[in-house]
This record gives sequence, structure tokens and C-alpha cells, in this order.
Amino acid sequence: MSTVLVAGGTGTAGSAAVAELQARGHRVRVLSRRAPSTTVAGLEHSPGDLLTGEGLSAALDGVDVLVSAVNGQTRKTRAVFTDGARNLTRAAEAAGVRRAVLLSIVGVDQVRFSYYAAIAEQERIYTASGLDTTIVRATQFHSLLRSIFATTARVGVLPAIRGARFQPIAPADVGRALADAALADSAGDRVEVGGPAVATMRELAETWKESTGSRSLVLGVPLPGPPGRFLRAGMNLTPDNRCGTVTFDQWLAENRS
Ligand SMILES: NC(=O)c1ccc[n+]([C@@H]2O[C@H](COP(=O)([O-])OP(=O)(O)OC[C@H]3O[C@@H](n4cnc5c(N)ncnc54)[C@H](OP(=O)(O)O)[C@@H]3O)[C@@H](O)[C@H]2O)c1
Repeated sequence: MSTVLVAGGTGTAGSAAVAELQARGHRVRVLSRRAPSTTVAGLEHSPGDLLTGEGLSAALDGVDVLVSAVNGQTRKTRAVFTDGARNLTRAAEAAGVRRAVLLSIVGVDQVRFSYYAAIAEQERIYTASGLDTTIVRATQFHSLLRSIFATTARVGVLPAIRGARFQPIAPADVGRALADAALADSAGDRVEVGGPAVATMRELAETWKESTGSRSLVLGVPLPGPPGRFLRAGMNLTPDNRCGTVTFDQWLAENRS
């Protein structure tokens, strides 16, 4: 039995990794600023903040493998990927932790925009650290696409970025990939995980519409600049790594809220 610390273990991907590791019989501790919203038998919570460094040493005490699935979506919180990663990897080395698994995004180093640049820097920090790190790059989650469509449907439209395709994956499948990497006999450099199917954004919007009964209008929209070129070139896809087991429509049917 290993002791695994999941930084960001209350988040979408992190909580899936926690559930998977617990189901496989391992001791799991969660590091996040806020406590999990529900109590799970056997799950320890270690409060801490990657940015201030508070709570990191205590969270890492006795840990065999560190899994990081933290997120910083706003400009104000983005430093969690850079300063936060430096603080966490240094604290892990000081605590004698040898192995790490870092969640990242497929194609993260192929486009220049600030969120991806910070995550690419996070990869470099882990690679340069003394931790034997496996980077798990995932495609967009089903929950991300659902959230985009649910938000814009409030004003009656569903965006279909022209030329954009996605290979969305269920968070549970990402959790499985993180657990596989954490429990593997040795660290690998990098693995990519994607959903079972590639679809255009228009097709995904139509799927969401059908699943929810929404009457919103699917609207073709251009996306200029580097992000548009990135999506049109399919750099967000990993068609040879269809590790996900659940398609977007199946996931929507199982996750109604
Ligand atoms: N969403 C997608 O489609 C997708 C696809 C591929 C890869 N990814 C990547 O996967 C990673 C995780 O994404 P997610 O959507 O699962 O994240 P999320 O749901 O937003 O969860 C983020 C987690 O990080 C913790 N956290 C944030 N700031 C922290 C800090 N300063 N100190 C300690 N903990 C902190 C949060 O807890 P507290 O706020 O309580 O601290 C929470 O547990 C990100 O790097 C993301 O880019 C996402």
C-alpha cells in the first residue's frame, strides 16, 4: 500500500484520482486550501496553500508519491503553476518524496497564451526537479464542454468554433490515468490520454442540445489568433491515445446536473 498525496484533490480531476486510488486500496491524502465538501471514509485532508507554502511540509510527511492536479484559471491565481509548483516540488524533495505525477494538457507547449504558458512552465519545473516525474497530458474534459454550452445557452446560443475539433474525456478516466501513473513501478516521461472519440465543436454542441432538450442556436464562430490556429490544426487532440471509456453523450446522460 502506498501513501499518495493529491494536490488539488478536491478539484474535478484531482477528486477522480482520489476516488480511483482509494478504490485500489491506497492511503490517500488531499492537499488544498479548502476542505472537501463531503466527508469520505479514510480520506485525510491536509490544508495548505502552494503559493504561501503554508501546510506543505505537513501534507508531504510520509508520502510515497505526489500527484498534482491544481489549477489557477485567473490571472490572479495563475502563479500556482509556477511559484506554487516550485514551492511544492522543493517541499516534496525536502520531505524525501521521490515520485511525482503531474496533470497537464495535450498540446500545452504548442500555443502561446498565458494559461497554457504557465502550465508548460509547470511541466518544466517538475522535469527539472529532483522528483521522478510522469507528466500526464489530458484532452479537454467532458465537464469543460458542458460548462461552456450551459453558460452560453443562458443567452440562447451554443458556440461552434469553426474548424475546431475536440476529443473530450471523462474526469473519471483522467483519474484512472493519474492513478496508473502514480502506482506504476517506475516513472515514465510523459503519457497522453484522450477521450474515445474526436468530434467537431458543432457536433458536440448538437449532442449537448439533444441531451438537455435545449432550444439554443448552434452558432459557427471564428476564433482568430494562435488559439484558433492551434484548434484548427488539431493540436489539442491525441487520436492514437483513445484511453477514455465514456463518450460525451454517455457522460451527459450519467451527469445530468
Ligand atoms: N478542465 C479540463 O478540461 C482540463 C483538461 C486537461 C487538463 N486540465 C488541467 O488539469 C488541472 C486540474 O484541472 P481541474 O479542472 O481538475 O481543476 P479544478 O477543478 O479547478 O481544481 C483545482 C484544485 O486545485 C486546488 N488549488 C488551487 N489553488 C491552490 C493553492 N494555491 N494551493 C493548494 N491547492 C490549490 C483547488 O482547491 P482549493 O481552491 O480549495 O485550494 C482544487 O482542489 C489543471 O492544470 C488543468 O489545466 C484540465
